[in-house]
Amino acid sequence: MSRRLLVTGGAGFIGSNFVHHVLEHTDDHVTVLDKLTYAGNLMSLDGLPQDRFRFVRGDICDAALVDELFAGVDAVVHYAAESHNDNSLDDPRPFLDTNIVGTYTLLEAARRHHRRFHHISTDEVYGDLELDDPARFTETTPYSPSSPYSSTKAGSDLLVRAWVRSFGVPATISNCSNNYGPYQHVEKFIPRQITNILRGIRPKLYGTGENVRDWIHADDHSSAVLTILDTGRIGETYLIGADGEKSNKDVVELILTLMGQPADAYDHVTDRAGHDLRYAIDSTRLRTELGWQPRYADFEAGLAATIHWYRHHEPWWAPTKTGVEAFYASKGQ
Ligand code: NAD
Ligand code: TYD
Repeated sequence: MSRRLLVTGGAGFIGSNFVHHVLEHTDDHVTVLDKLTYAGNLMSLDGLPQDRFRFVRGDICDAALVDELFAGVDAVVHYAAESHNDNSLDDPRPFLDTNIVGTYTLLEAARRHHRRFHHISTDEVYGDLELDDPARFTETTPYSPSSPYSSTKAGSDLLVRAWVRSFGVPATISNCSNNYGPYQHVEKFIPRQITNILRGIRPKLYGTGENVRDWIHADDHSSAVLTILDTGRIGETYLIGADGEKSNKDVVELILTLMGQPADAYDHVTDRAGHDLRYAIDSTRLRTELGWQPRYADFEAGLAATIHWYRHHEPWWAPTKTGVEAFYASKGQ
């Protein structure tokens, strides 16, 4: 049956991948609500079926607009956020506004209209793990966020839990590991290095490069979210991950190799303040209870496809590249 979905942050990286995924794999109608901050890009929503897609430019903190939009949909998937750790260290304020007050504004509308609500979050709410720790994050790992970004995401998760328990809002939460794929802003690790190489700039590795991230293709994140929306238990949290643990150093070397460069042609730069060491997700609940499986099992193949995408979409990323590199250069990164 066809649903009417409201997708917040649908002009961003993961939100736009989700919108493409939903319109390709279901009969649902999608309205995107996005403020088009520096991170939003309307080109990421090109080529969608116009009879099932609508774009509204606006702020999730605008209660009147949010209320009007909730009245016309069956369910809401909430991606909108300030999403970059490095920016949160530079200026935390927008993170508090969008991630905390914005999520609160949406929850109040979900409560008034009793709408199905799915909240997108990150594994960074759990803090970090030691490199040699056999443990991975599960749904019962205590929250211990490190940065202004992850602490505001943790705050937003707790608001969702409280609105489920106190007001009966029919909500679910997912916490996903690091995503890669098309439409990711060049401020983020993988696109930054790919576009650096395309511009003749050496990739930049923070600190020793030993830090580990657990990579998942954005399309696998989308299929997991759709599965939770369809069959997830109300009030439940699901961790999303694809067993993709890799050190940053290994990822940079693989990008260089796939792009025909010497594997050691990168620079070590100033480390991030409070840099989380390792993230790792145990997604057993999602796989056993809801039967979800990732499709992109081969990280190298997914990365090669992502490199191909950036090579052939320079008009998408070129307008932001110079400004991002100037920001990093000002911090010795
Ligand atoms: P992004 O920065 O690429 O996109 C965020 C989008 O939200 C942009 O289009 C922006 O314009 C919009 N936005 C920001 N503030 C807004 C506001 N006040 N009102 C309306 N729209 C607003 O982020 P992303 O990487 O696609 O992340 C999306 C979500 O997924 C976030 O909630 C993030 O915490 C979560 N997440 C990201 C990752 C990752 O690896 N990037 C991993 C796990 C979870
Ligand atoms: P990032 O993409 O910012 O995601 P997150 O902070 O949410 O994990 O960074 C991924 C990893 O790559 C993180 O350990 C920081 C590191 N990093 C670099 O080494 N160099 C870079 O230029 C950037 C942007 C990140």
